[in-house]
Amino acid sequence: MVPAVRSFVVRPNGPLRGSLPIYGAKNSVLKCMAACLLAPGRHSIGNVPAITDVTIMSDLLASLGLVSRHHGRGADGVLDVDVPEELRPIVPYELMERIRASIVVLGPLLARTGRARISLPGGDDFGGRPIDMHLRALEQMGVEFRIEHGNVEGSCRRLVGGRIVFEFPSHTATDNLVMAAVLARGTTVIENAAREPEVADLAGMLRSMGARIDGAGTSRIEIEGVDELHPAQHSCIPDRVEAATFLAAVGLAGGEVLLERARPEHMDMLLEKLSQMGVTWVPHAGGILATSTGKLSSVDVSTLPFPGVATDYEPCLVTMLSVACGVAIVSENVFAGRFRYVDELRRMGACITTEGHHAVIRGVPRLSGAPVKAPDIRAGAALVLAGLVAEGETEVSGAEHVDRGYEDFAGRLRSLGADVQRSGEAPDQPW
Ligand code: UD1
Repeated sequence: MVPAVRSFVVRPNGPLRGSLPIYGAKNSVLKCMAACLLAPGRHSIGNVPAITDVTIMSDLLASLGLVSRHHGRGADGVLDVDVPEELRPIVPYELMERIRASIVVLGPLLARTGRARISLPGGDDFGGRPIDMHLRALEQMGVEFRIEHGNVEGSCRRLVGGRIVFEFPSHTATDNLVMAAVLARGTTVIENAAREPEVADLAGMLRSMGARIDGAGTSRIEIEGVDELHPAQHSCIPDRVEAATFLAAVGLAGGEVLLERARPEHMDMLLEKLSQMGVTWVPHAGGILATSTGKLSSVDVSTLPFPGVATDYEPCLVTMLSVACGVAIVSENVFAGRFRYVDELRRMGACITTEGHHAVIRGVPRLSGAPVKAPDIRAGAALVLAGLVAEGETEVSGAEHVDRGYEDFAGRLRSLGADVQRSGEAPDQPW
């Protein structure tokens, strides 16, 4: 039997209204799960959404000997993780290649066991996604790597702290190094560290385990290694990319929506851009209240590491600019191959040309519904949003990509009045 194509079916249905809690940040939760490797015992992580990437990471940790149990949904989702004294420090290829964040088990495994065998990680295909910075920095801490048959095998005695200077503030390389350094001998200083709020959140969890970390969230992080850590109880920060996605939905469809728990201080530059485009917002009741008439103005955007406009916001912004008044240039400075979804927006009538890492977007009065394919998590969500303002019906196939990062995306948009259905399976989400 041919498996059903999982898709979202979207029709325009006027302005969005209501309120919605923002769930835990995927890019924090996955690292916090890896951090559990650093201490035996039972850890408890709160604000864990029911998304496929969490399931994949749980499976990956299970292959190392950990047992995870997810209970509750949405903002009430909790993941309990039991970590044994002995770990099996080998990650099978089938798990490693399913998720980019899998690379963050490398640092904690080496710190805890002095050994790790992983294969080169997979995940969204935005062009080359090397791990050279991770490996070089770990080598500086005393790890010897052998790369053979697509596997990376690392071994070391106890890791040794030192001064690591990143040539680019890589998010996961920073996570990996922080997790390696917490159990290293001596002090590690990371210069040009990623400043993303999720890095600071991970450091918060590690500190609650007994780690000594200063400066997480700035470009200089100092970590004083300790001999052992204890299990954590930690609640993850809300997902700024999810908040940005729902802000874009209101921007496009118009209306008024309260994004409960959304943290404006995690998305300053994005909010500035949205204001320039005509979306108004105010901090309200511990979240963000956003209002839009649905009439947008064009604005140029350059993606950059935090605190710049995050590359993960880019597909939603390009979708908004597709129907904005005027012409905009979007420069993608983080992932060279990120514009693949633009072909799908063009099929819906968007007027976009790309040249290398730049896109020129001439706003059109309206999009027209079409069958399109989600190439990755964020672009998939953006194509669903395009359907909110496209004449007729839009069918976005590849819904499984969106499920990797959004819990019940269709149901939550419906709760605001959008007409978004799932097809290809009985429940809203295969969770
Ligand atoms: C993380 C996020 C992803 C986000 C990205 C940028 C996770 C699981 N994913 O990805 O959602 O889009 O940050 O904010 O947290 N690079 C190298 N060598 C390396 C590492 C990275 O050349 O060893 C390059 C990459 O190819 C890319 C750039 O550095 O061009 C940024 O990548 P990085 O910050 O590492 O992104 P990720 O951590 O993979």
